[in-house]
Amino acid sequence: MRMPLIAGNWKMNGTLALIERFGQAFAETGLAPSVEVALMPPAPYLAAAQDALGATPVMLGAQTLNPEPSGAHTGEVSGAMLAEFGVRYVLVGHSERRSLYHEDDVAVLARVRAAHGAGLTPVLCLGETLAERESGHSEAVVLSQLEAVFDSLDYDARGCVVIAYEPVWAIGTGRTATPAQAQAMHAAIRTRLGDYDVDLAARLRLLYGGSMKADNAAELLAQPDIDGGLVGGASLKVDDFLAICQSAG
Ligand code: G3P
Repeated sequence: MRMPLIAGNWKMNGTLALIERFGQAFAETGLAPSVEVALMPPAPYLAAAQDALGATPVMLGAQTLNPEPSGAHTGEVSGAMLAEFGVRYVLVGHSERRSLYHEDDVAVLARVRAAHGAGLTPVLCLGETLAERESGHSEAVVLSQLEAVFDSLDYDARGCVVIAYEPVWAIGTGRTATPAQAQAMHAAIRTRLGDYDVDLAARLRLLYGGSMKADNAAELLAQPDIDGGLVGGASLKVDDFLAICQSAG
């Protein structure tokens, strides 16, 4: 009942030529209708990506947005601007934004609200650091990041969120969470969502991110509470990303 979503987060990587290659590859290789795919290139590439992917089922996503609708925010991009380029999903609370750009829970909530205001679906990223995992606090950290947003949303807004569990120690390290570790956290998140609403818990999609690759995706995606992937490094290689998308379909 939950359609898997595979989202490729290019971070600050990629080129126009790579956008073209992805457009060609996805136009030539059909995707199973049972999987959703989104590509999240850097903002300057959104117009080119909209063109290159227009004839494919791949949707567009963005990596961040400013919570304000417009104004004196040099370098920033609003949700309405993203929507003009056909963007459907936007990452919020990615651990790199939390750590490098000091986006705390309040800033994350503001961005979730801004995404909703612009008609975008936020992909709310949650995840613990290695120190937090080793000290036995993983679940408390992740659930508190979740509650910092969900406690302040109403029923309809809660239903329009995708959640991504990305353990910080697995991001870009090649050290993937084991399927059992990932499943355990996803189950904990879904149980907590059930405290808000049982139906909400059953239908919200929970993605796993952190060194997901072509050779480990199938096992992760086979877990009952893992509904897709948020892929970083492997989303920059068209064959690898296609293989991950196919293993979800
Ligand atoms: O948002 C995706 C991400 O942080 C995971 O990156 O390179 O470990 O797949 P990577």
